[in-house]
Amino acid sequence: MKRHTRFAVILLLVLSSLLFSTSPSHSQRPTNVEQRVDALLSQMTLAEKLGQLQQLDGESDGNFRPEHLELIRKGLLGSTLNVRGAQRTNQVQRVAMTESRLKIPVLFGFDVIHGYRTIFPIPLAEASSWDPALAERSAAVAAQEANNAGVRWTFAPMLDIARDPRWGRITEGAGEDPFLGAAFARARVRGFQGDDYGATDKVLACAKHWVAYGAAEGGRDYNTTDLSENTLREIYFPPFKAAVDAGVGTVMSSFNAINGVPATANAFTLTKVLRDEWKFDGFVVSDYTSVKELINHGLVANEEDAAAVALNAGVEMEMVSRSYNAFGPKLLQQNKLSMATIDEAVRRILRIKFRLGLFDRPYTDEAREPSSLLRPDSIRLAREIAGRSMVLLKNDRDTLPLNKNLGSIAVIGPLADDRRAPLGWWAGDGKEENTITPLAGIKAKVPAQTKVGYAKGCDVKDDSTAGFQEAINLARQSDVAIVFVGETHDMVGEAASRSTLDLPGRQLELVQAIHATGKPTVVVLVNGRPLSIGWIVNNAPAILESWMGGSQAGNAIADTLFGDVNPGGKLPVTFPRNVGQVPMYYNYMNTGRPPEVENRYTSKYLDVPWTPLFPFGYGLSYTKFTITNLQLNAPRIAANGKLTVSVEVENVGPRVGDEVVQLYVRDPVATMTRPVKELKGFQRLTLQPGEKRRVEFVLDREHLGFWDREMRFVVEPGEFRVMVGSSSAEVIEAKFEVALHEK
Ligand code: BGC
Repeated sequence: MKRHTRFAVILLLVLSSLLFSTSPSHSQRPTNVEQRVDALLSQMTLAEKLGQLQQLDGESDGNFRPEHLELIRKGLLGSTLNVRGAQRTNQVQRVAMTESRLKIPVLFGFDVIHGYRTIFPIPLAEASSWDPALAERSAAVAAQEANNAGVRWTFAPMLDIARDPRWGRITEGAGEDPFLGAAFARARVRGFQGDDYGATDKVLACAKHWVAYGAAEGGRDYNTTDLSENTLREIYFPPFKAAVDAGVGTVMSSFNAINGVPATANAFTLTKVLRDEWKFDGFVVSDYTSVKELINHGLVANEEDAAAVALNAGVEMEMVSRSYNAFGPKLLQQNKLSMATIDEAVRRILRIKFRLGLFDRPYTDEAREPSSLLRPDSIRLAREIAGRSMVLLKNDRDTLPLNKNLGSIAVIGPLADDRRAPLGWWAGDGKEENTITPLAGIKAKVPAQTKVGYAKGCDVKDDSTAGFQEAINLARQSDVAIVFVGETHDMVGEAASRSTLDLPGRQLELVQAIHATGKPTVVVLVNGRPLSIGWIVNNAPAILESWMGGSQAGNAIADTLFGDVNPGGKLPVTFPRNVGQVPMYYNYMNTGRPPEVENRYTSKYLDVPWTPLFPFGYGLSYTKFTITNLQLNAPRIAANGKLTVSVEVENVGPRVGDEVVQLYVRDPVATMTRPVKELKGFQRLTLQPGEKRRVEFVLDREHLGFWDREMRFVVEPGEFRVMVGSSSAEVIEAKFEVALHEK
């Protein structure tokens, strides 16, 4: 080694050790955190300890409640939610840091789900990109904006697998698949937290809702769930495991009951799995008043017992209800709660506060807040991600992309110029005035001589058709009609379950009326869940699923409609033909009588085909791809071996475009019935016209195993099938064997 290189290496080592000792990354786990926690804990009174377990809600506009300052002064409030803005959080923090006895900083939490001020597409849309790196980037922008606004903790990512689109919160997650869900979970945790959630542009993340909240019976929010442990472990746990492995600092318990035990009192999920099996050392926060709600669940008769069962099961922080604080001392006296349990809860919360650097950097730089919001690069990214999240559902005779030089365009529909819908249900601190609507996006895209007319036609929710005629007239006078239909922001999200997946109100009739004019009619969906749009699929020549695309939705929609962006997204969730098919998901178990057209006594419906309207993984492009030449590097592997699977992907169409190559496996004979296919790999790639590339996947034990009857994760020897394709329904297939004893 040359002398100056050696010198540089030594310098680097010294510098990095200095760096780590002053600003440790949480993966570096500074040893002195535990000492600082213990030292602090030993000085705390019981009231102060219980105070750290309490989180209370600020005003919905982001302000704090003045009465909370007194609690903070006395050391009786450890965290708030919804309080935001650098100045306000500093004002609250100053009370904690200068007027309370032990000077324990307040932890400010907020729902930064898909953006703080710059709003990105809803998480379900981002999952449609099949590009987790994008979700990491949007979460990083959200973290940077939130941190500069005094928020140090986001209640995200939401990792609930949702197989039932009636459930409104399907909008907040990555869809129906555990493998895709886990990939997005990791990406979002990394985006929010980085390597060090104490950094000035990061926030602490919270994996929610633990667990099975998305399995609410009937798709009715908050409803109970009844699931085997196998299903929990294989379908509902994986995104959470991925988040814990990625270092997520906190977890939120869910509202629902699981197999008779509410998640907020569930020692199996909270203690056995999370703490003991997964070694999670952060803390669990309850959901909003869910500790007190244990009474309604019928698990306990009063708040006192609610506090005991929740805290004993492993919920460390109580959101909004105040049972821990009100009854902690009495429960301790009665031996229903031990000091060790309380100490452990406080220890976990303090540990995170130390790791977050809250004690060392309790305040936010107020000067930086304004310039950190809606930065031009953040807006550009929001547009890029919205474009990459769109899914082209139908495009007969190359209706799309549209020519920018059309003489006239009719922009129609209740969601064509709605500023709120694209922001989705949770919109952080997003503002409607920063939304680009589809109408604005289209106007900005076409040259001045192209006439762009607009007619709303009808509302999403009410029954009036008074606006139809104006819309019909406009369509008649135009070269093309683009109709924007779907759901308003409050028809999805929390407490927004629907019993039908049809377009609400008179929107379908509006589409029919415009289609009847004979003008080419493009339908753009603005929605937060799968919709059953059979008539439109059978009749409209082109359909674009734009979801709720965030602040830049309108620009991204225009980019896509006019071909500056070639859509490459794929559905992360199955679209049923009608709500009666629900629950419907691609990774179902076969029955003893798989569906056959000619055989009545097979598993199907009398009145609707058993297949979905659009399958999981489906999406078109303005170009065409072929996936051929599936190769395996070995015909057989050992149970703990690895298999390389590859295919050739070629762009055989006229434009540059993206394909998402998807790999599925099936274990056709096992000691438990296994799904007909399970996603175990995917890659989104961009190919030039005529370009061909070999795409490779590696399968191992993780991908081939399952939880058996004794709850062991096993890979069973025998034949396996591997399928690769452009959707879950369009695949080519090969076989390989897993040998009991090999190599
Ligand atoms: C939701 C959570 C959210 C919390 C705080 C609850 O109603 O279920 O997802 O984080 O409120 O806003």
